[in-house]
Amino acid sequence: MPKLLFGVTLSLFSSLSSCRLEPPPPEEAYAELCARCHGPEGEGTERAPALAKRKIPYPLFKAAVEHGMDLMRPIENVDDVGLRTVMRQLSIEEFVPQEVLPSSYSSPETLYLQACARCHGDGGQGKGGRLALRKRRIPPELIRAFIRHGIDDMPGFPSLTEEQLSALSDYVARLK
Ligand code: HEC
Ligand code: HEC
Repeated sequence: MPKLLFGVTLSLFSSLSSCRLEPPPPEEAYAELCARCHGPEGEGTERAPALAKRKIPYPLFKAAVEHGMDLMRPIENVDDVGLRTVMRQLSIEEFVPQEVLPSSYSSPETLYLQACARCHGDGGQGKGGRLALRKRRIPPELIRAFIRHGIDDMPGFPSLTEEQLSALSDYVARLK
């Protein structure tokens, strides 16, 4: 019997998709739980971005699945074996991003302007139609995970204190 993935969410997902009585084994988890939005091969659809061949740190991948964002619902009790199987199947490169520390931490706003605005826009409006942070539904825990770990070419900021991290993620969450 293969190790089960996402045990506790069985009822949540079975009511959405089929009348399965068992949660899917790791090799089938992607097809069953993720493919309808992220595409059969992780190539992305109009509902959700590509995941295949991205650079995503494991703790951020896990936080995204556990907390959900935008249309994606949270999944409780995710299983490391299952998540790592999905990352392998999609050739997601796990990486530890280079930290680029801004020179001062006077306020969340300054930190945002120094470290984030060049990609996400001064007011979180994004750049060139991409990377908007406004009008998103991203739980605070997941905003913190994005900032701490980074993704793709976004640097992570692992040495921010919890306080700085919370202040910055509150600031980001309030960009409206
Ligand atoms: C109902 C549709 C839906 C389902 C099902 C779904 N996702 Fe998502 N997912 C999304 C959306 C929408 C986003 C946010 C897109 C964005 O950042 O613009 C997202 C974001 C992500 C991210 C963060 C990457 C990023 O570009 O921000 C990861 C990692 C992820 N999903 C993995 C998964 C995995 C693994 C599964 C299956 C266990 C899954 N998703 C199921 C819709 C979905
Ligand atoms: C070099 C460019 C770059 C910088 C600098 C940067 N980011 Fe990002 N950020 C990205 C990219 C690329 C993504 C992934 C977008 C996607 O999944 O579609 C991202 C995703 C995010 C997300 C999740 C939303 C989403 O659409 O996936 C948040 C929240 C975020 N960044 C906040 C920040 C904060 C706060 C800072 C400053 C501490 C920052 N970023 C600095 C490029 C950057």
